[in-house]
Amino acid sequence: MTAQLDSMYPTTVDFGTLDEIHRAAGAALPADVFDFVEGGAGREITLRANRDAFDRWRILPDPMSGVANPSTRTSVLGMTLETPILTAPFGGDAMFHLDGHLAVARAVQRHGTVTIVPEAGSYSYEQIRAVAPEAARIAQLHPFAHAPAVAERIQRAGYSALCVTVDCPIGGFRTRNMANRFAPDMRQFGGNLTGTDGAPGVAEVFGQLLKHGAAAWNWTDLRQAAAQFRLPWIAKGVLTPDAAERSLAAGASAIVVSNHGGRQLDPAPASLDMLPRIRAAVGPELPILFDSGIRTGSDVFLALALGASAVVIGRAAIYGLAAAGAAGVSRVLELLTDELRTLMTLSGAATIDQLDATRLIGAQS
Ligand SMILES: Cc1cc2nc3c(=O)[nH]c(=O)nc-3n(C[C@H](O)[C@H](O)[C@H](O)COP(=O)(O)O)c2cc1C
Repeated sequence: MTAQLDSMYPTTVDFGTLDEIHRAAGAALPADVFDFVEGGAGREITLRANRDAFDRWRILPDPMSGVANPSTRTSVLGMTLETPILTAPFGGDAMFHLDGHLAVARAVQRHGTVTIVPEAGSYSYEQIRAVAPEAARIAQLHPFAHAPAVAERIQRAGYSALCVTVDCPIGGFRTRNMANRFAPDMRQFGGNLTGTDGAPGVAEVFGQLLKHGAAAWNWTDLRQAAAQFRLPWIAKGVLTPDAAERSLAAGASAIVVSNHGGRQLDPAPASLDMLPRIRAAVGPELPILFDSGIRTGSDVFLALALGASAVVIGRAAIYGLAAAGAAGVSRVLELLTDELRTLMTLSGAATIDQLDATRLIGAQS
């Protein structure tokens, strides 16, 4: 007798697609909180451009390539990633799910990759590392006066690298939040801002981020502070070859090509549009993480083929978190990775380092 076939697609999963997860997040969150997540700065030209940029590329099929089981494993700064997808630092995470980054880190650990733990999150660096030490490897901080003390604290907590956000001297001009008179409980951004040695006050950090005219650092300030860091650091928020070169001159070991998901300068260029020229400027060796607009496995493929070493997901992870906590984030990582693996087979790429621009063609060509 013929063996029974499973159904063509899994029928028992909570979420069949990433779109379903997005919709579930929208249903789970109050409208002003969902706007805080979804929104960008200004007229949201950059927010839209980040998505549109992916539509201008096509992946070339490679029939009969013989690739059956492509490997999504790679490594960044000595950290092994089973899938080339990290989760982004995002503040206020308990607004999206009570377990916030604790849930994100657990899900990320399940998938053998790394989460970038935020300074302005609802839980402390130490709490998140305690629940998922294999995933909580990179911690984000802002380049303000307290940075050397925070870097020291992050190192003591056992992290492997720092991520310094260089594109956020003040918060962007977030029009949806302004229209909503958005007034979240600021304690949800305060997981790292109380008590512990070296912790800046809430007023110090948010005074900087929320009020115009705060003293912002320049590259020299950052280089001097970074000279005291004992961990390698990644500059997050690089959108031009010039900023990439300045980051390296200040001592960065890697960069995140990012426009902060369209939440800071608007109109700024799409992150994907800037990626190839930044890769060309810094050469093939520098680890480049990429974020802003990743929503599907094909986006991951395109970013890697255009020069990224790995990608970082912000909103896509938040959708999973809001929809179903750790299980939701895990499903997002699973769907992104499954699609990436499928595309690798169809395009004949056996490994992540085989993804390059020779596999793509511009949509207009
Ligand atoms: C709700 C929210 C909060 C964020 N908070 C921070 C933050 O505290 N620090 C930071 O460097 N980036 C922050 N980001 C930006 C993300 O780290 C990341 O750059 C961005 O979300 C990537 O774009 P994507 O959402 O399209 O994936 C935040 C993003 C969102 C959506």
